[in-house]
Amino acid sequence: VTSRASTPSALPRHRDCPFDPPSAYTELREEGGAGRLAFPDGNVGWLLTRHEDVSQLLADDRFSSDRRRTSSPVHSFPVRPDDRRMLGSFIGMDPPEHTRYRRLLSKWFTARGMRGLQPRIEEIVEDHLAAMERAGPPADLVTSFAQPIPSLVICELLGVPYEDRTDFQRWATVLLRLGQSRQEVYAARDALWDYMRGLIDAKRHRPDEALLSRLVNGDHGAPGGPGTATAAGLTDDELTGVGLLLLVAGHETTANMLALGTYALLRHPEQARMVRERPEVIDLAVEELLRYLTIVQFGTVRVAREDLEIAGVRVQAGETVVGSLASANRDSSRFPDPDTLDVTRDTPDQMAFGHGIHQCLGQHLARMEMRTGYPALLRRFPTLRLAVEPDQVPLRHDMLVYGVHRLPVTWDRAAG
Ligand code: HEM
Repeated sequence: VTSRASTPSALPRHRDCPFDPPSAYTELREEGGAGRLAFPDGNVGWLLTRHEDVSQLLADDRFSSDRRRTSSPVHSFPVRPDDRRMLGSFIGMDPPEHTRYRRLLSKWFTARGMRGLQPRIEEIVEDHLAAMERAGPPADLVTSFAQPIPSLVICELLGVPYEDRTDFQRWATVLLRLGQSRQEVYAARDALWDYMRGLIDAKRHRPDEALLSRLVNGDHGAPGGPGTATAAGLTDDELTGVGLLLLVAGHETTANMLALGTYALLRHPEQARMVRERPEVIDLAVEELLRYLTIVQFGTVRVAREDLEIAGVRVQAGETVVGSLASANRDSSRFPDPDTLDVTRDTPDQMAFGHGIHQCLGQHLARMEMRTGYPALLRRFPTLRLAVEPDQVPLRHDMLVYGVHRLPVTWDRAAG
């Protein structure tokens, strides 16, 4: 074991190809896997790049997810230390607190539970494709397809008015963008918080059948049976945090997979043809696109609770360790020929949804939206293609969740 005294460097950000993670990751994987990482706040920690090490990081309870103790790979300032707005955001909690939330919510997000949403998702997808067809080419696939579909789905699931999306999308974008000032980030969090807090209050007075209302008022025969009147013991502040986490996570992620995934398929026409013509490959195709694109581009962040060894290096208590999901998903020791997009490959241990106790709660929902969305789009518009040169597609280098800012596409109108 070494402590690898290499000079700390910032998180690799430069991509040579829109679909490949920065090549610095490949070098690091080959050189031993772990490197010293310099954070924007001046702290120094570690970057792990191999599949084996990243999965160990995420499964090891000697690491904490507590956001008040980690350095951020994108901001130079901490979350507000006394922030009541951290309440309910269980992505940044450890057991037993995390377990309490996860138990409460997981019954809503099971593969089986999500299958009940399939008909509605198909309908939403068809509506948006029909609107695109009526409007005619060209279109921005982000605004006409990739963004509205997951947005409408999560709004309906939670019971958030879809009409409010311009506001909450704008605030969420501030939280997910790199290089924002402390004031901007705190103001966006406040605005989101006040918005969701108001919604939680409204659910108490005007209950409906959607998830937030059921968490506030208790279930009325929802999955898992009747809940308690205080939503299994969560305070209104805690519920606000839960609502925000679900809204932001449910929104940005799948939207970017739909848009970036379509872009990748358009650049690999033989792969697009398989998704269009062979329904039996769609499940594998979705996993492969998740692996190949790994939109949570800067990885997962943990902090060591004690001195320990991982990936052949000594990590000290209190140091932040970033596990790169994007790099793990291109590790050739796990995925042969990792830089090739092959929608027929079997990748059961791809890590785009993370790993361990925080593995994505919304993964079954996201999968269903992609499984429905890609083939429906490619079948409705068999001649779908980019409407600009590939290098004109604006990439989300500047966002926590990678993807495209816009995807101008065109197609031939059906004859007659
Ligand atoms: C957690 C990715 C869609 C809700 C995570 C994590 C990743 C991830 C990597 C783990 C973070 C960590 O370990 O620190 C993705 C991707 C998605 C997606 C790639 C789409 C393709 C969704 C959707 C929802 C959602 C649709 C909506 C409900 C969550 C929540 C967590 C989470 C609540 C925290 C889970 C916990 O801490 O126990 N996601 N996600 N995600 N995701 Fe997703």
